[in-house]
Amino acid sequence: MSDALKNYLTACQSRVESALDARLPAANILPQKLHEAMRYSVLNGGKRMRPMLTYATGKALGLNEDTLDGPACAVEFIHVYSLIHDDLPAMDDDDLRRGKPTCHVAYDEATAILAGDALQALAFEVLAHDDSIKVTPDARLQMITTLAKASGSQGMVGGQAIDLASVGKKISLPELEIMHIHKTGALIRASVNLASLSKTDIDPAVAKKLDHYAKCIGLSFQVKDDILDEESDTATLGKTQGKDKNNDKPTYPALLGLAGAKEKARDLHEQAIESLADFGPEADLLRDLSLYIIERTH
Ligand code: IPE
Ligand code: IPE
Ligand code: MG
Ligand code: MG
Ligand code: MG
Repeated sequence: MSDALKNYLTACQSRVESALDARLPAANILPQKLHEAMRYSVLNGGKRMRPMLTYATGKALGLNEDTLDGPACAVEFIHVYSLIHDDLPAMDDDDLRRGKPTCHVAYDEATAILAGDALQALAFEVLAHDDSIKVTPDARLQMITTLAKASGSQGMVGGQAIDLASVGKKISLPELEIMHIHKTGALIRASVNLASLSKTDIDPAVAKKLDHYAKCIGLSFQVKDDILDEESDTATLGKTQGKDKNNDKPTYPALLGLAGAKEKARDLHEQAIESLADFGPEADLLRDLSLYIIERTH
């Protein structure tokens, strides 16, 4: 990881932690158990890749970070909701997340379902009302639509449905790609596009290049997640290693082998870099983040 990226990630992480904290209901507000569960799942040391991407895209576009706190928190709230539900017994049935017991283990299944539901609603409340967002009402509406589409049946939730329907099945590479683009790629793409929507006078050609970059890294992110599930260890990952194989999930390493999956991730990284060819050093963080995504250890 470059020094520039390391410093940026550290600064960004603490910014995101306090922005998330400020937007979550306090744990002593009724219903306390639900609010505690929401705070437990959000404020527990995720990498915050999606908020980083929102801020780094903002940097590439010359935007002030203060205007991006709302979109950054909204994508992370959706992401955490997706993780809580992904870990439920009805889905991947995981008991470890971010190095701690999953929400349904630490609380109970009903609370975990409701915490996910409430985080989803909170994400949209933030986009609709957050003071940090300084765009026209029309652009705000576009932000809400972007996140809704990325989250719903033709985005993340759709990808999760394909994932669950594919358990124990042999699916083709194009089908696997569609599943990954939906379940993980859509929200990563929204993380970048919400920053583009925060720039009032953005050139549509620039927004298109950023969107293409986001599509590439959205897929490489899940390819790498599959690789890590196969070759890392539980302590490093903070989630149970080997779950995909145990749950008989189709993955990139299962279809292409580990070497083939790594080659695919590298190829997507190169495509992501190419999409940024028209940008100067202002997009270096986005370039570094793309490399980080395929080289990360957890
Ligand atoms: C894990 O996402 C789930 C996927 C979509 C692959 P992250 O690897 O970003 O998880 P956290 O937020 O750092 O815990
Ligand atoms: C999850 O993919 C994607 C979403 C949560 C939408 P995985 O099931 O592979 O994520 P992990 O490995 O449990 O984090
Ligand atoms: Mg899953
Ligand atoms: Mg899972
Ligand atoms: Mg995984």
